Amino acid sequence: MRISENKIEEIRSAANLVDVISEHIQLRKRGKNFIGLCPFHNEKTPSFTVSEEKQIFHCFGCHAGGNVFKFLMDYEKISFVESVQEVAQRCGITLDLEEEPQGEKQSEQEILYDINTEAARYFSNNLLNHPDGEVARKYFQERKVKPQTMRAFGLGYALNGWENFLSFASEKRIDLEKALALGLIGQNKDGKLYDKFSGRIIFPIFSPNGRVVAFAGRVLEKREGTAKYLNSPESSIYVKGRILYGLSHAKDEIRRLDKAILVEGYMDLISLHQSGIKNVVAVSGTALTEEQVQLISRYTKNVVLLFDADTAGIKASMRSIELLLKREIEIKIASLPPGEDPDSYVNNYGREKFEEIIKRAQNFLEYQSEYYEKQGMFEDAAKTAGAIRELVKPVALISDELKRALLIKNISKKFNLREKLLESELDKAIESAGKQITSEERIRDREAAKINNDAREQTIKKATPLLYNMEREIIKLLFEGSSEVVEFISQNIQPEEFVIEFHAKLAWVVYESFSGGGSIVASSLIEKISDADLQSYILELTFEKYEISKSWEELYPGIAREKVLQKAARDTVRKFKLEQVGYKIQANSRLIENEPNEDEKFNLIKLNRDLEFQKRIISEKFSGS
Ligand code: GTP
Ligand code: MN
Repeated sequence: MRISENKIEEIRSAANLVDVISEHIQLRKRGKNFIGLCPFHNEKTPSFTVSEEKQIFHCFGCHAGGNVFKFLMDYEKISFVESVQEVAQRCGITLDLEEEPQGEKQSEQEILYDINTEAARYFSNNLLNHPDGEVARKYFQERKVKPQTMRAFGLGYALNGWENFLSFASEKRIDLEKALALGLIGQNKDGKLYDKFSGRIIFPIFSPNGRVVAFAGRVLEKREGTAKYLNSPESSIYVKGRILYGLSHAKDEIRRLDKAILVEGYMDLISLHQSGIKNVVAVSGTALTEEQVQLISRYTKNVVLLFDADTAGIKASMRSIELLLKREIEIKIASLPPGEDPDSYVNNYGREKFEEIIKRAQNFLEYQSEYYEKQGMFEDAAKTAGAIRELVKPVALISDELKRALLIKNISKKFNLREKLLESELDKAIESAGKQITSEERIRDREAAKINNDAREQTIKKATPLLYNMEREIIKLLFEGSSEVVEFISQNIQPEEFVIEFHAKLAWVVYESFSGGGSIVASSLIEKISDADLQSYILELTFEKYEISKSWEELYPGIAREKVLQKAARDTVRKFKLEQVGYKIQANSRLIENEPNEDEKFNLIKLNRDLEFQKRIISEKFSGS
């Protein structure tokens, strides 16, 4: 069924989000907003915030958020259409059911998702029903995987041979070029196509929303010269570092328990899930990335690392600790007896024993110091100093001062060291950590450099924080729901003028809706943003967590909201434009200084005069009221 945009808009604006949420959660008023305990993760102090004015909710703890439809979808675990129907019913709006329109053009990505879905169905059917799937069924039986689990994770089998999937694909009129790009088929030197996963057990890899983005195929038995696992290549729907295996199956439980267990392998996750431990995600073969950490941190700030006890596993733990600490995540590290992995352990000893392992998880200091101890680092004084420096390093990544002090106390007790000594080591470590620019700053610089890749780059690097903040102000204004403001900003700033790419994207969403006659209220716009990170970014902005200047009302007391917004828009756009020209002038001035050629120099000086002139024009154009 399909509901028209207008109807959805009518239904959305008829409902009051505060009323809907209040039926499920106790809310109390705080300032302009309502707050309560978040239903999507465990918490003791409320970080779940609802704006009646903007009709959106956002949890500052787990980053859940959206409009009334999103709340019902998440809370009642229903689909979008169902949530629209439910709200319509509450508000007494009748829905005319239309047929799904035919022949609407599918996006490139949608086609890829569809091909993967077809393929996953095909592989799964081989495993569950095909006579030649018997080897795979036996394999899973030996590994104690139940049919119910196979279905839950869409496990499958690619029949042995070179053209089984290929003929299925032809039959289904799947675009072979696309299947090639998705790594489902390969092409040899003579141009002949063949099945890529042939003879392998198939693990579909899901996006956080549960769509099939890739596959991993495992050999049935180890053979010389073949990789144990074969993975789909990256594609427009699959970026390795942004996917955590099993997240779509685990996210609800991770929120509920406010804890995630991070394991290494597909089979680890599947066996744990089968035995009832469902708050598990797997990094599966790659080193943990910053983006994966960000993904987890949307659902919880508590992570237990459970990597294999081999050297590779220990190395992986050590590396992951830093990444997680930087995101303010509480880390525990659990260890299994030698020779076991989570899959074998839970199958051999059962759920309760496994849970004990998790309960006994150490904090990262204990874990790391034990490791250095085993390495014999505490046996002589010189090495001890080195070990201590290593131990203090991760502590420096924690921004909470109190937490840092406690950890330092811990180390000092454990190794019988003077706290003063540790503190001075810590200070050194903090200083050098401060010199490493944070990832956010790196993204910002990279984005800035993309658009301004000439001699101005140096200047921009310095000017960027200021520009960044101005851009945020402008984006915030775009989501205030005033059409005058959106019109004014869209007439004066093109999306590509935003230095930061995600600001450009957000501006694009607003401009597009505005010019198409669509709604520009935040609760409606939020639905048009497909990227989850962008969504929670704009939610936090609109809830003014990051207050850059004072709120508009404080800045201009006693003036009508609409007037305040318009004035703020004019001021901010002016400042933004001036800043843009300002750094062009700065960069140009440096070029002038270093220009040996007199003619060139003259041209540059002329350019600078033009820029100064532009500056005056901008000042005049946007001044006054
Ligand atoms: P089982 O042997 O089936 O229990 O798998 P496992 O997960 O225990 O395998 P292992 O501990 O050897 O590896 C952990 C994870 O690393 C796997 O789940 C894979 O994601 C990844 N991995 C292992 N071997 C390979 C390989 O040959 N190629 C690729 N791409 N990934 C691999
Ligand atoms: Mn294993």
